[in-house]
Amino acid sequence: MSFSRPLTLAMFVASAAASICTNRTVPVTISARQAVFDLAVPQTNLEVTDFILNMTQQGRNFTDVALTGYDTTTGTYNISTMFCTPDDGSSTNPAVQVLTHGIGFDKTYWHLSYNNYNYSYVDFATNHSYSTLSFDRLGTGNSSHGEPLNEIQSYLEVAATAELTKMLREGTFPGVNHSFTKVVHVGHSFGSAQTYALASLYPNITDGIILTGYSMNTSFVGYFAAGGNFVQANLNQPLRFNSVLGSTIQSLLTMYAQPIVDYLTPLDFSSLPAPQDLPNGYIISQTIEANKYLFLKPLFYDPGVLQVAEQTKQPVTLGELLTLGSVPAVNNFAGPVMVISGDSDLPFCGGDCLATGGSAPSVMSSVSTNFPNVAAENFTTYVQPNTGHGINLSYNATGAYAVIASFLEAKGLVSS
Ligand SMILES: *[C@@H]1O[C@H](CO)[C@@H](O)[C@H](O)[C@H]1NC(C)=O
Ligand SMILES: *[C@@H]1O[C@H](CO)[C@@H](O)[C@H](O)[C@H]1NC(C)=O
Ligand SMILES: *[C@@H]1O[C@H](CO)[C@@H](O)[C@H](O)[C@H]1NC(C)=O
Ligand SMILES: *[C@@H]1O[C@H](CO)[C@@H](O)[C@H](O)[C@H]1NC(C)=O
Ligand SMILES: *[C@@H]1O[C@H](CO)[C@@H](O)[C@H](O)[C@H]1NC(C)=O
Ligand SMILES: *[C@@H]1O[C@H](CO)[C@@H](O)[C@H](O)[C@H]1NC(C)=O
Ligand SMILES: *[C@@H]1O[C@H](CO)[C@@H](O)[C@H](O)[C@H]1NC(C)=O
Ligand SMILES: *[C@@H]1O[C@H](CO)[C@@H](O)[C@H](O)[C@H]1NC(C)=O
Ligand SMILES: *[C@@H]1O[C@H](CO)[C@@H](O)[C@H](O)[C@H]1NC(C)=O
Ligand SMILES: *[C@@H]1O[C@H](CO)[C@@H](O)[C@H](O)[C@H]1NC(C)=O
Ligand SMILES: *[C@@H]1O[C@H](CO)[C@@H](O)[C@H](O)[C@H]1NC(C)=O
Ligand SMILES: *[C@@H]1O[C@H](CO)[C@@H](O)[C@H](O)[C@H]1NC(C)=O
Repeated sequence: MSFSRPLTLAMFVASAAASICTNRTVPVTISARQAVFDLAVPQTNLEVTDFILNMTQQGRNFTDVALTGYDTTTGTYNISTMFCTPDDGSSTNPAVQVLTHGIGFDKTYWHLSYNNYNYSYVDFATNHSYSTLSFDRLGTGNSSHGEPLNEIQSYLEVAATAELTKMLREGTFPGVNHSFTKVVHVGHSFGSAQTYALASLYPNITDGIILTGYSMNTSFVGYFAAGGNFVQANLNQPLRFNSVLGSTIQSLLTMYAQPIVDYLTPLDFSSLPAPQDLPNGYIISQTIEANKYLFLKPLFYDPGVLQVAEQTKQPVTLGELLTLGSVPAVNNFAGPVMVISGDSDLPFCGGDCLATGGSAPSVMSSVSTNFPNVAAENFTTYVQPNTGHGINLSYNATGAYAVIASFLEAKGLVSS
């Protein structure tokens, strides 16, 4: 099946609206202690390979090799957000879930349009009386893009998430007339690493965290770095990430290759949004095959969902990859924690979360040791069957959502 803009629009109009969503660009003024790396930003695709070779070399920590010190990054940045709330508005004390996406996606990871939104985490959550805030992380989607080595790094993004959360708690989030007293943070992959760091840096900012597609075991992250076959985003999808205007392509084709225009009808390049003109150092997985390798378990996904993922894929910065693993080993958070990953998760389980040689129930089990303040009854892990790293793209995505919802309910983190 092919995917086109008119079709997406039709799907949106047709979707049963159980929630009211508003999209807003929210400026945040933030500051974070960030790493300073001494590294020449790769300028070609072949130089991106050099960077990945450095990242995946065994026996050394390349983040540490490239690190020269720390500095404070301060600035005002735009965050592109979507806030959704159940349309019945029956709850007087609604709980909100703050959703942080991982590498390769934007906020639509939580609200996939595919199949009339039946994979949508946002719809599942609003169906269960939660409000949700999803957003494009800094450097991704329609949020601000900065310098890719020493500016767009994990801790600046964590500071932005903290700021958005404070607005929700204080009732100052634009267009949202409510002070939330119950806030749950849900992450996926790199978004889970950031959620973990957020809870550690600001233990009072969250009432519970759900880390999806995650573990603290870094043995297999190299599979992700290598398997992505990363290249410069501006060369891989120039109509989205370079400075090539769709309208320019359209008029060149019309002038010199009318038969191609006829052949491609009804594709309308001139209606494409303005490209983002990303600098080198924003890198992206190269092909749909790489995308499948990173995120899906063979046979347990709809090929059409992979098409959407490839067409909407997002880049990652060098600075993000270098700081992905820079999370505190001891987390101060004391509230409920769930770690849930697909049984075949690639980057955090090496393709099999149950293969621990009998030393633990799953690769995720050991995460409990990172949370010394969390009571045993408030920590749980779950291995979602027949699922790869991209839980929300799997046939049984809503099965995983139900497991998360039960945990939150058991911990009293519900709207009332
Ligand atoms: C909000 O943005 C999402 C894409 O992130 C889009 O699917 C949706 O239609 C937008 N909603 C509104 C109400 O404009
Ligand atoms: C790779 O690491 C070496 C040092 O081990 C460094 O000289 C080189 O600049 C690095 N290249 C990239 C693209 O990371
Ligand atoms: C790698 O080095 C960085 C910077 O020193 C550090 O923050 C990180 O924890 C190290 N990672 C591992 C897996 O040791
Ligand atoms: C944020 O977006 C507004 C409106 O689109 C724009 O005027 C402003 O320059 C942007 N700010 C930053 C820091 O990008
Ligand atoms: C969405 O609907 C399709 C078609 O009915 C089904 O195959 C798929 O499993 C559903 N996905 C989810 C996440 O419910
Ligand atoms: C949300 O509820 C609507 C209406 O009952 C239903 O059609 C839809 O499938 C639900 N969405 C999800 C993701 O569970
Ligand atoms: C970003 O903005 C463009 C242009 O308005 C829109 O087509 C696209 O859906 C938006 N993407 C996200 C992730 O919000
Ligand atoms: C905000 O909510 C309060 C009470 O819930 C209501 O009285 C007030 O009119 C609302 N303000 C706006 C701007 O909607
Ligand atoms: C965080 O919560 C703890 C325990 O409830 C409390 O002692 C502390 O003052 C709080 N810190 C802030 C900054 O609110
Ligand atoms: C578990 O978490 C709940 C909800 O935050 C809290 O009320 C309870 O005290 C915690 N249990 C223990 C033993 O700390
Ligand atoms: C990571 O998981 C693998 C597979 O279970 C295991 O062999 C290895 O010891 C784990 N590494 C750490 C640091 O726990
Ligand atoms: C879907 O996920 C739920 C929750 O993990 C699980 O109980 C169920 O067996 C799964 N269904 C399939 C067909 O894998």
